[in-house]
Amino acid sequence: MRIDIITVLPELLAGPFSASILKRAKDKGIAEVHLHNLKHYGLNKHNQVDDYQFGGGAGMVMMIEPILNCINKLKSERRYDEIIYTSPDGETFDQGHANHLSLKENLIIICGHYKGIDQRLRDYVVTKEYSIGDYVLSGGELAAAVISDAIIRLIPGVLNDETSALTDSFQDGLLAPPVYTRPADFNGWKVPEVLLSGNFAKIEEWRMEQSLKRTAERRPDLLDEE
Ligand code: ADE
Repeated sequence: MRIDIITVLPELLAGPFSASILKRAKDKGIAEVHLHNLKHYGLNKHNQVDDYQFGGGAGMVMMIEPILNCINKLKSERRYDEIIYTSPDGETFDQGHANHLSLKENLIIICGHYKGIDQRLRDYVVTKEYSIGDYVLSGGELAAAVISDAIIRLIPGVLNDETSALTDSFQDGLLAPPVYTRPADFNGWKVPEVLLSGNFAKIEEWRMEQSLKRTAERRPDLLDEE
């Protein structure tokens, strides 16, 4: 998989992609993330990427041309499955979207800034719009990092223990059960007996009960979804 991220702040994204699982995915040749500085596509001698909004009002709008020039250059090199825009008014990104996108080959993510991008890009160029939650970030970069991480870790071979992504919270529509490690008794704080029993059928049954209980308590909305 390849993800191309178009941003006015590439330095904000360099960190998340140079450590941990995302770095491992890159080193293994499974996923690559390329950052494109939108200012390199800016207009005139000021490398302008934004302008005042028609109709007046505070806040700048990101212009069509620089973004489209960057996208067209990328599209001339390969075919893209989706052109994603990160914005608080997009569809709320969830595990289902991550699963779906992890099967794709090439994605572009445009990070919004200021008042956002010109609506015509959203109407004619963008194919998916995602929000990562009901709060406003100062730009779409952190949202792009969150979305990329959620997608890339699902690609087979990225995680060492391949089954571990399958047992994540949300993967079966439920929250994950509690987990424990040694010592079995820490000054009287005991691990549930069943986990020490060696009876794997019983352990699975207990984990499913715990998942259901936790989901009912913390996220009953997940149980209502069909
Ligand atoms: N840009 C600003 N806030 C955002 C959010 N909540 N999700 C995605 N992109 C954003």
